[in-house]
Amino acid sequence: MDNTAELKLNGKTFTLPTLEGTEQERAVDVSQLRAQSGYITLDDGYGNTGSCKSKITFIDGDAGILRYRGIPIEVLAEKSSFIEVAHLLINGKLPTSAELTRFSNLLTENELLHEDMKFHFEGFPTSSHPMAILSSMINAVSCFYPELLSGDPKQHFEVESARLLSQVRTIAAFAFRKSRGLPINYPKPALKYTANFLHMMFSNPYQEYALDPVVVRALDLIFLLHADHEQNCSTATVRMVASSKANMFASCAAGVCALWGPLHGGANQAVLEMLDEIHASGDDGSKFINAAKDKKSGKKLMGFGHRVYKNYDPRAKIIKQACDDVLSKLQISDPLLDIANKLEHAALHDSYFVERKLYPNVDFYSGIIMRALKIPTEMFTVIFAIGRMPGWIANYREVMEDNSGRIYRPRQVYVGPVNQTYVPIKERK
Ligand code: SDX
Repeated sequence: MDNTAELKLNGKTFTLPTLEGTEQERAVDVSQLRAQSGYITLDDGYGNTGSCKSKITFIDGDAGILRYRGIPIEVLAEKSSFIEVAHLLINGKLPTSAELTRFSNLLTENELLHEDMKFHFEGFPTSSHPMAILSSMINAVSCFYPELLSGDPKQHFEVESARLLSQVRTIAAFAFRKSRGLPINYPKPALKYTANFLHMMFSNPYQEYALDPVVVRALDLIFLLHADHEQNCSTATVRMVASSKANMFASCAAGVCALWGPLHGGANQAVLEMLDEIHASGDDGSKFINAAKDKKSGKKLMGFGHRVYKNYDPRAKIIKQACDDVLSKLQISDPLLDIANKLEHAALHDSYFVERKLYPNVDFYSGIIMRALKIPTEMFTVIFAIGRMPGWIANYREVMEDNSGRIYRPRQVYVGPVNQTYVPIKERK
């Protein structure tokens, strides 16, 4: 492969280096372009721009491939668990049995929120969206551990990441309980990550939550499938904040905010609201699909399309199969699943979607499983955030440990007014 690219500008030729990643992705390195030519690049939505080199996750959008640290998502979904995958993403390797035990014990030791955090929950209106509570409370955690905000972050990374990964679950469950006027459930050290979360969400003083292995496994799989996904909007946000040397809590709280949007992690809640709307209207989906094709309608087929996948999202395939398994094991028949299947079939045979290579993404079926697990719709994106936390922590670590790393500071092309003068207020119209 030629290791340089030539760019002709105003009769001059500039030579730029190129590079190739371990999965044969190729890039032109434009880091010296402005110094050499005075030009910058402009790339709306960063569709063609790499912000970093990373060793964590690889996606081939055309082939529908997703690998965490080189291991295919299909293999991890079948053989691994969320916490084992969290260790893989954060530490770069599958844990030995002793390492997994140590990692799991660290999560248990750090599962409790500081008792004074409870007062913050009191202050939120019960109608608060749990994503607002989650981002606020993740930042609030750092107020109780000032020692984690000083000194070399590398020194306290292990305990800080364990505290964040463990407590994101506790905060989420407490937020849900508060929203329903229910007493909070403290985590149980005897329970592992996902089972403990379900206990904190659904146990009551008069009745312990009955842990169904099918439900625990299904939610653990949902967390695992959401654990990382290259430089998506929220992960890129975490890296942006981390690049200023802000702490892990601030960086990941920013990730929660970015994830909330309905074009990103908020899509799983929007999919359920879309399916509910279609179901309530008696439409078989065809009217909605027509609206989604009409730009003027402002509607999109939520859970469809992806910036990178121009093929079926491999996670959607796994979740769709899990959907069928879980609903049949729990003996649930959900009319929304029938509508989703019909929508998918119609869209995959409609030229508008086919021409634009729009396929179901991770959010299209995940809400149906979460509904079957009795997770309320407003908590869907919170579940996504819990799952994505290991990926955010792994990316935070990559930025934090990059000693040659620079602050992320994109350029722009100014298109505003020029040569303006100051007009005294009396003369303004
Ligand atoms: C996630 O990046 C990641 O990795 C994200 C994620 C992760 O794990 O982190 O995978 C998680 O966010 C999945 C995506 C969830 N969002 C949705 O399901 C919302 C619906 N999807 C769209 O909003 C859209 O597909 C995006 C946001 C996902 C991708 O947007 P792009 O890449 O900017 O594509 P685009 O908006 O430029 O669309 C290209 C064309 C446009 O039509 P034309 O201008 O060419 O005529 O496709 C159309 C769009 O109008 N289009 C859709 C559509 N998605 C794209 N039309 C109808 N319904 C849709 N869902």
